Amino acid sequence: MTDLQAGLTSATHPLERLSEAESAAGVAIVKADSRFTAKMRFGSVNLHTPLKSSVIGYQAGTPFERAVDMVLLDLADGSTVEVTASLNTSAVTQWDRIVGVQPSIILDEFFESEAAIRNDAGFQAAMAKRGITDMDLITVDPWSAGHYNDPLEINNRIVRGLVWVHDKPGDNQYARPIDGLSVIVDLATQKVLRIDDERVYPVPAESSDWSRKFVDNVRSGVKPIEIVQPEGPSFTVTGDHIAWQKWDLRVGWTTREGLVINTVNYTDDGEVRPVLYRASLAEMTVPYGDPSNTQARKNAFDVGEYGLGMLANSLKLGCDCLGEIYYMDAHICDAAGEVIPLPQAICIHEEDTGISWKHTNFRTEDVEVRRLRRLVVSFICTVGNYEYGIYWYFYQDGRIENEIKLTGILTTGGLFDGDKTKYGTVLGPNIYGPNHQHFFCTRLDMQVDGTSNSVVEVNTRQAPADENPWGNAFYAEQTVLKTEQEAQRRIDPMTGRFWKIQSSERKNATGAATSYKLIAGENILPFATEDSSIRARAGYMWNHLWVTPYDPDEYWPAGKYPNQHAGGAGLPEWTKANRPIENTDVVLWYVMGHNHLPSLEDWPVMPVANISFTLKPSGFFDRSPAMDIPASSGCKVV
Ligand code: CO
Repeated sequence: MTDLQAGLTSATHPLERLSEAESAAGVAIVKADSRFTAKMRFGSVNLHTPLKSSVIGYQAGTPFERAVDMVLLDLADGSTVEVTASLNTSAVTQWDRIVGVQPSIILDEFFESEAAIRNDAGFQAAMAKRGITDMDLITVDPWSAGHYNDPLEINNRIVRGLVWVHDKPGDNQYARPIDGLSVIVDLATQKVLRIDDERVYPVPAESSDWSRKFVDNVRSGVKPIEIVQPEGPSFTVTGDHIAWQKWDLRVGWTTREGLVINTVNYTDDGEVRPVLYRASLAEMTVPYGDPSNTQARKNAFDVGEYGLGMLANSLKLGCDCLGEIYYMDAHICDAAGEVIPLPQAICIHEEDTGISWKHTNFRTEDVEVRRLRRLVVSFICTVGNYEYGIYWYFYQDGRIENEIKLTGILTTGGLFDGDKTKYGTVLGPNIYGPNHQHFFCTRLDMQVDGTSNSVVEVNTRQAPADENPWGNAFYAEQTVLKTEQEAQRRIDPMTGRFWKIQSSERKNATGAATSYKLIAGENILPFATEDSSIRARAGYMWNHLWVTPYDPDEYWPAGKYPNQHAGGAGLPEWTKANRPIENTDVVLWYVMGHNHLPSLEDWPVMPVANISFTLKPSGFFDRSPAMDIPASSGCKVV
């Protein structure tokens, strides 16, 4: 044991996820510091990200630095403190106080703000006006406040409570919105600062339940499907490291992003070739498109204002993955720094996804077909009314896909009798689902055959007339994106646009740079105006692709502290420098938007909507990497 490995850690790799004991040790080091006071709350507890240079080429057994980053909220003056505690030396190595920012909303604040609202006399009077007196039937969702030049947003740490009323305990709260009303709570004092009570809508009378205790109409004829893997799955897990079908990677976790995919390699003919250094969902924003005062301010930044890891599901309950499952546990810390275990937060399994390739020689009836499998690494989080499943797929043919599954319940609004609205979809008497969008920004720290990469945009063009005697010709026009501002791009399905990430060092058999291409799926742009609050606060949404040179301080597309922030931070700010991005260590930020004009079928729980993008080998291999997939054994004929 060297000095660096002594101390409070038994980690065996710099990227290993923090253990519960390590998080607790980090918290204990901070609590023992003379600067720590009883007025301080723990906003987040995370692994101090190790330097990329210390990870690439890391040799097992070599000592390394291990530290815990914590964000504290100081209720004494509303300031934020960024602290780092070394697990090697038990010393606090960073203690920076920051004024004028708001860390993400802490889980404890969800419940505290709801209680504060229920107990407030003014709120009870507002409910009485609506004929509601039983406070036990009231539910409050604490929405992040955003920034609309309201003095309360600038001077206080707040949430905007939106209110629902149950008809009976455990029923679907979203069936009964108390629209026209929002309650602003000071999270430092847990006092109601203001009640914006604009309009009394009738409370919808209809129930619309999803819990099985209320639903007795179950279809018949669903016979069992069992996924049988008699020899077990084809992957092996060692700590956080997964090896499967020539792929290998490390699972990471932060309270902000939830699942992180680290150091993805593909072993090609015995040679380990890097593809991706780090990938995660780095921000998401859900802007609402309804002009009413209550709805217009719904603009949740679910990563930066809440934290997907903080809201991750324990997959112990329910049946989220099918087959031979390997679960990884996670944990979070509450405001007091106490560890809360999250058993089975990450699901790892493999899936059959149909055929990989097939050819029939119709003359000889020689047939070859291969089935394709993928490794799935996923987690699911619940952000108030909505669920997001984040899935990373690794295919035997060298593809990587990221899919987000959106489900959960619409956050609803109220209507007067017989009213309709063009800013949403009427779901029943006195209730509608407002129009909104979901934007996801995935940070892709690429490493295609080395850390030095370039990004090339490919558009398919009609050939010029002098080369096109038959009028049929077209070709791929390739444009190297040389600077950050050149690399602020949008999709163009009409030119089949995609982006290649190519190695600066390695060539394939034809002499071209080895590369992966980023293929867009469903996408859209925001409809918010240039002078809207959300345009400033989530500027990243206005491009589908951003490329930056790697900088260890740049992780968050809308800034490190988007909660109540006026805007401008993150990608729009960094890329003003217009740094060169050619033949360098590049980070891609792919933004995909889902346009949600609710339909009746989304109610009461939305069947999954899928949105995805793919990283596909493009001259990375010299031939199809799927030719060596073994033929599968017989098929069952009914
Ligand atoms: Co939606």
